[in-house]
Amino acid sequence: MNSVLVASNRGPVSFTVSGEGVLTMKRGGGGLVSGLSGVAKDDGVLWVCAALSDGDRGAVRQAPGGRLDQAGYDTGALRMLDIAPATFHRAYNAVANSTLWFVNHLLYDTPNAPHFGSRFQREWESYRDYNGAFALALAEEAGHEARVMVQDYHLTLAPAMLRAERPDLRIAHFSHTPWAPPEYFSLLPDEVAREVLEGILGADHAGFLTGRWARAFTDCCAALLGAEVDARGVTHHGRTTRIGVHALGVDGEELGRRAGEPDVESNVQALREQVGDRKLIVRIDRTELSKNIVRGLAAYREFLAAHPEWHGRVVHLAFAYPSRHDLPEYREYTAAVQRCAQEIEDEYATEDWDPLILNVDDNYARSLAAYRMADVLLVNPIRDGMNLVAKEGPILSPRCALVLSREAGAAAELGADALLVNPYDVLETAQALHAALVMPEDERARRAGNLAAAATALPPQKWLAAQLDALT
Ligand code: G6P
Repeated sequence: MNSVLVASNRGPVSFTVSGEGVLTMKRGGGGLVSGLSGVAKDDGVLWVCAALSDGDRGAVRQAPGGRLDQAGYDTGALRMLDIAPATFHRAYNAVANSTLWFVNHLLYDTPNAPHFGSRFQREWESYRDYNGAFALALAEEAGHEARVMVQDYHLTLAPAMLRAERPDLRIAHFSHTPWAPPEYFSLLPDEVAREVLEGILGADHAGFLTGRWARAFTDCCAALLGAEVDARGVTHHGRTTRIGVHALGVDGEELGRRAGEPDVESNVQALREQVGDRKLIVRIDRTELSKNIVRGLAAYREFLAAHPEWHGRVVHLAFAYPSRHDLPEYREYTAAVQRCAQEIEDEYATEDWDPLILNVDDNYARSLAAYRMADVLLVNPIRDGMNLVAKEGPILSPRCALVLSREAGAAAELGADALLVNPYDVLETAQALHAALVMPEDERARRAGNLAAAATALPPQKWLAAQLDALT
């Protein structure tokens, strides 16, 4: 039986299926997956995740008990759950991504949304079923007193469900997102808000990326459940859940090694040919509402308007990769990003100067190349659990100045050496872009060095080990 189990919606691999039914495996990306992948292949560790697509379902159905490793894939011990597509869709898109993500990132346009009617009740039922499927699989797979690490907002109910089945287990939950303050969290129907909080409190240890998100969570527990909060943690119905802060960082050596590979080198050369010796302002994001890309472009436009002396001497490389395109809000947002970019082009481009290069297709090697070349890195989310882009940039570009939203979790560690901005204040962001461009060489090198040191303080392996320790 397994002594350490990890549970997350997205697993370390995904499958695509061709017209002829041939399955191809691809490794997953994103902060959560890269944070966990380091331990996935250790002995005694089992990862439980959901099948996200038809390709995944095809692979699961051919694997004994959903165990992909036992079907011959080199994944480490991995069980993928084949949850009914309609249930999965309602749990993942409607509840996790359209409700819990929106609440914790403060994304609602409140005159119009959210709207909790009878349809939401069905969606919430599916979220319960989806969490139940994870709890059941974990209960089946876990050895006596095993440690179980449940990840993120998709799986807030699973800890309490699992504890009910298997009181012997030691359970941790980790939130990779921010947490909303009580007055915003209470947008959720009372019963739903309570279930989410009590679901996480089913764990022995609840982990967060910063002290700020941990406090917001405990404030919600106090305000909405009447739970007792003190130095030991949160006590509710006679049980105490400890609270931990684990600021996920970057494996700098591994990142540096990857960024030196030939595919990245050739991207550096191609980009250099495209932009010449102009200064580069870089941003790299998923096309995600919380990333605030439209205001970021608007800030660049304000900067160009205020500083004609920079025309022809600077290029903004904006990489906005596709994300969550099943949700209409995301498709509209992608269109808004493209419109805004087009307006900047129309207003400022000349025959020999492209002020903005927007790329909306995913290309990891090109992103690493852009990091290496960045003079300025713009990271301006409305709200973000951590933001690893802010950490990766200074590791790869030792002279890069960072313009960073004060609402990103990373601001807690990087704030002293970044140029912090209010993400809603477009003019302030524009001024910060200018200040970052004109920052003297010695100052930018000193700051980037400090940023890189802070960014590598808690690499994924140590981050995970700290959470496992917290369960012993
Ligand atoms: C980001 C968040 C994670 C979340 C992931 C889900 O990386 O920081 O908290 O788990 O998105 O993204 P997905 O593409 O799986 O919906």
